[in-house]
Amino acid sequence: MSAAQFIPKKNTNSVEKVSFKWQTPSNIALVKYWGKSNPQIPKNASISFTLKNCHTITTIEFSKKETSTDVEFDLFFEGKKKEEFKPKIAEFFKRVAEYCPYIFDYRMTIHSENSFPHSSGIASSASGLSAIAMCLMSLENVLNSDLTQEFISKKASFLARLGSGSASRSVEGPLVVWGNHPKIEGSSDLFGVQFPYKVHSVFENYQDAILLVDKGEKQVSSTVGHNLMQNHPYAENRFVQANDNLAKLSKILQNGDIKAFVNLVESEALTLHAMMMTSNPYFILMKPNTLEIINKIWEYREENNSNICFTLDAGANVHVLYPEKEKEKVNQFIDNQLSKYCQKNHYICDTVGFGAKKL
Ligand code: DP6
Repeated sequence: MSAAQFIPKKNTNSVEKVSFKWQTPSNIALVKYWGKSNPQIPKNASISFTLKNCHTITTIEFSKKETSTDVEFDLFFEGKKKEEFKPKIAEFFKRVAEYCPYIFDYRMTIHSENSFPHSSGIASSASGLSAIAMCLMSLENVLNSDLTQEFISKKASFLARLGSGSASRSVEGPLVVWGNHPKIEGSSDLFGVQFPYKVHSVFENYQDAILLVDKGEKQVSSTVGHNLMQNHPYAENRFVQANDNLAKLSKILQNGDIKAFVNLVESEALTLHAMMMTSNPYFILMKPNTLEIINKIWEYREENNSNICFTLDAGANVHVLYPEKEKEKVNQFIDNQLSKYCQKNHYICDTVGFGAKKL
C-alpha cells in the first residue's frame, strides 16, 4: 500500500456540525524504534504492547466554516485553553493535510485529557496524536460512508505516525508492529499493524508497572534523539540488530519462551540507552534510582525464580513487565521495595490493552 491510497476521493456526504470522542492508549515498545528518515519512516521495525490504563481522551467538534484556506482550531487540555500545545498540533495538521483535505472545511475545537499526570515523564504524544487521528477518521467516515473498518484503522495509524512515529502503534492492540519486516506479514513503514500470529497464553494480560523515577520534562526531545542516529558509529548495526530481535521476538511470543523474552526485552532497553550514550552529543538518561531499580529487579528475579523484567523509554522511568500469574507477589515487591525509588513513591499499574475506543 502506498501513501497515495490514503488521499481521499471526493466526499459523497456533507455535514455541518459533528463531534467525536475517542479514547486511545499509550504503548510501550519491546523492540525499540530509534532512528528515522523523512517523512517519519523508521530505520527499523518495532513492536509494542498497547497499554490499557494510560490513555488520552479527546473530543473534536467540527463546525463547517465559510472559507477553506487555513486550518483553524482551538485546543483545550484538561479544560483549559493551551496555546503552548498548539504549534505541535498545527504541525501535525500540516503533515496530514494532503490526506485529510476536509480539515480546511471545518473549525475544530479539540478537548483533550490524559489518564496519567501530564508531568509524569510518560510520553503523551502517542496516545494524544492517535486520538486526534481517530477523530479525523470518524469525520472522514461520515463524509465517505464506504470506508471499511480495516482501512479506518490503517489510515488512523498512518496519520498518527506522521505526528509521532510511536503513535502509529497506539490504534490497535494488544501487540502492534510498525515498520516493514520480512517475517511479519502485512507489516509496513507507513502504519502499524496488529501482530498477525497467535500469541502464547503466558503473554495474555501482561502487566506493566510504570515506576516514575523522574517526572520532569524530557531531557532529549524525540526528534533530537532520532537525529542522533544519523552519523552514529553503530547505527547500521543497530538497525540490523533491531530487525533480528523482532524476528526472534515474534517466535518467542508464539512459543511462550518467557526466559528468552526477558533477555531480549532488557537487552533492547539497554541498547537504546547505549545508543544515547555513544552518540555525539551524548546523554545519560538513566538516573541513579533507575539503576537501583534495575538491580533490585535482577535480585528479585534470581531469588524468586521470577520472570519479572524491565524496559525503558528515552528517559529515567522504568517499565516493570511481568506475567499476570505473578501479579500479586510482584505488586507487593514493587510497593515494599521499589516505590521508594520513585518520585513521591508514585507508580502506575497498567496491563496490556486492546487499542482505540469510541466513546
Ligand atoms: C524511545 O515516537 O516519540 O520511545 O517519531 O519523533 O515522535 P517521533 O518519536 P517517538 O519516539 C519514540 C522512541 C522510543 C522507542 C519506541 O517507542 O519505539
